[in-house]
Amino acid sequence: MDWGLANRMARIINPKTGKTVMLALDHGYFLGPTHRLEEPRKTIEPLLPYADTIMLTRGVLRSSVDPESCANVVLRVSGGVSIVGPALEDEGITTSFKDAIRLNVAGVGISVFVGTSHERQTLLNLAELVNQGQEYGIPVLGITAVGKELEKRDARYLSLCCRICAELGAHIIKTYYCEDFEKVTTSCPAPIVIAGGPKLETEMDVFELTYNAIQRGAVGVDMGRNIWQNDHPVAIIRAIRAIVHEGFKPKQAHKLFLEIKSENQKAAATA
Ligand code: R5P
Repeated sequence: MDWGLANRMARIINPKTGKTVMLALDHGYFLGPTHRLEEPRKTIEPLLPYADTIMLTRGVLRSSVDPESCANVVLRVSGGVSIVGPALEDEGITTSFKDAIRLNVAGVGISVFVGTSHERQTLLNLAELVNQGQEYGIPVLGITAVGKELEKRDARYLSLCCRICAELGAHIIKTYYCEDFEKVTTSCPAPIVIAGGPKLETEMDVFELTYNAIQRGAVGVDMGRNIWQNDHPVAIIRAIRAIVHEGFKPKQAHKLFLEIKSENQKAAATA
């Protein structure tokens, strides 16, 4: 791997632990003002110190993240569709490599929609990004199974999606956790991170999801709603970090979550 690509990969996956906590903030690119991400700056700022990487679009990056924050950025560069349009999977590339380089990104991310009528187009978009990523030393995150494709969330389908992304040269892949998840990670030669999906019922559910994914071969999370839709987003991201980077078990993470939540509540009451 060339120096620039390796350096950027190290900005995404922490070389000391081989793991990453990516904070997903790109939902607005097809969902508009998602609950608790209506004012992105307010959501993002308190969480920045605890994310290895933030994943978002150039519009929210330029408007809502200070350049001095030193955040590592994986830029969402696919889109062009919306939740109310006819076909969520009909995505194109929205952002040039020139602009991604201007934004000093650590990587770029694009969705693929395997099994849909736009499979070929989205996979060729990924391949084209990889061509350019190799040229400029920028890793490409392939994102699988968004939208209706989520209904097919089993190891067979997700293995197919992840393996195809890896074969096309994606440097890192984002998918969903499922039963027999180790089948997905062992058959994919590129590192895998998991999305969190819609907000789960309890914090323990989030910690168990994270722990199980790491145990079964994920290198981390690229999580959004289960962090910033929680009433205590700083406490939950810090507990997730402890699982990902320090090997905490779900119960230990939950204890840490409660401690941080209580400290933060006390600090807010005395402020
Ligand atoms: C979806 O296309 C986006 O890439 C989100 O970043 C992804 O779904 C992860 O966010 P969440 O953990 O909220 O599912």
